[in-house]
Amino acid sequence: MKLAASANNKKAVAATAVPPNMTESRDRCLMDSHRLAGCSEIFACPACRKELTFEDHDVRCLSCEAVFLVDNGIPLLFASDEGQTRHVTDIVKAFYEENPFPNYDDLDSKQGLMEKARRGVFARLLDEQIPRGARILEVGCGTGQLTNFLGIHWDRQVFGSDMCLNSLRLAKGFRDRSGIRNATFIQMNLFRPAFRTGSFDIVISNGVLHHTSDPLGGFLSISRLVKPGGCILIGLYNKIGRLATDLRRVLFRLSGNRMRMLDSHMRNPKYNEARKRAWFMDQYKHPCESKHSYDEVIEWFESTGFEFLFSIPKIDTSPFTEYEQLFEPHGKGTKLARLATQFEMLLTGGVDGALFIMIGRKMNQDTALREPVERTRGAGVMAAPARTSWH
Ligand SMILES: C[S@@+](CC[C@H](N)C(=O)[O-])C[C@H]1O[C@@H](n2cnc3c(N)ncnc32)[C@H](O)[C@@H]1O
Ligand SMILES: [Zn+2]
Repeated sequence: MKLAASANNKKAVAATAVPPNMTESRDRCLMDSHRLAGCSEIFACPACRKELTFEDHDVRCLSCEAVFLVDNGIPLLFASDEGQTRHVTDIVKAFYEENPFPNYDDLDSKQGLMEKARRGVFARLLDEQIPRGARILEVGCGTGQLTNFLGIHWDRQVFGSDMCLNSLRLAKGFRDRSGIRNATFIQMNLFRPAFRTGSFDIVISNGVLHHTSDPLGGFLSISRLVKPGGCILIGLYNKIGRLATDLRRVLFRLSGNRMRMLDSHMRNPKYNEARKRAWFMDQYKHPCESKHSYDEVIEWFESTGFEFLFSIPKIDTSPFTEYEQLFEPHGKGTKLARLATQFEMLLTGGVDGALFIMIGRKMNQDTALREPVERTRGAGVMAAPARTSWH
């Protein structure tokens, strides 16, 4: 049996075949294949979950005989989901193939990426606090800024996965131009993962699950990829914080988009037209989005054996500082405190589209015994802008 995905993939490969004189690029592709072959034990066929074999130019499942092509070094391990969610996945995929997000128009070098991460603080803290030797998967990496940034570290293995091939090409192009060694990009549908259960120390998915037809199903699917004792980081639109965006969307629709300047990104003199368009489309014209609450994600965590560690914004609404410990357990606060945090998101205008981030640890016997600690660090120190988006 051959997967339908393989046939679609063939088309993509033909469109981007490597010209014969691009030996450097071809060498890099071979390096990617060898690197993937070196860790083939963490992969699983997205169709039948059995073992995959990495060849120089394709990836094969010896069990169900699916053949997955490789596009210029990017394994196309995408398999369509079944039933109702498939229709939405197809629509969202088409949307991002046309509007890769967040794109690279303001970044041209590794130094630029590092500088941006340093200013945003959150990515820098992640980089500093992820243990050495960790294996990380970013699900829905888009154009791969975070995967590339984390992949700069020498002692780490970072995989960026997305279903949008145009985004992955931009991600890998930046990686290759910048000489980033430890980032690998893969086309994958999060509902049909191409990895084995429990393969990763950290799974990150920021701004993705709310663009699927089944966010909880998506969470269940990717949470299985976390090792016991490993962590998951989920970024979602907030139900209350995003009301400001909802209001603007209605105003834009009524005014034929003439009131676009109400969004501060559209007034930002540093943004060029392409960047403004990418933001506008993602925030106001998306074909599929849902919104979520702190309580909902805490319930997802608790029902799947994850303990809550940390959130951005923080539940006690104290400022995010550059001394936060992202992977230490913190109190999850009361229902009222969590509600207040989300209202504060609304009052501050829903920065970054009102994304909130929740970090949890998959419990094993050791972690299950640990008590959450109340925060003691960071009080009174410089408040940092908790930018969780690369846009
Ligand atoms: C708003 S972008 C976020 C990109 C990136 N995480 C960031 O923070 O900038 C959402 C991404 O999720 C990806 N995505 C949505 N549904 C997906 C699915 N079922 N499987 C894999 N990727 C998916 C889209 O292709 C898109 O690149
Ligand atoms: Zn198979």
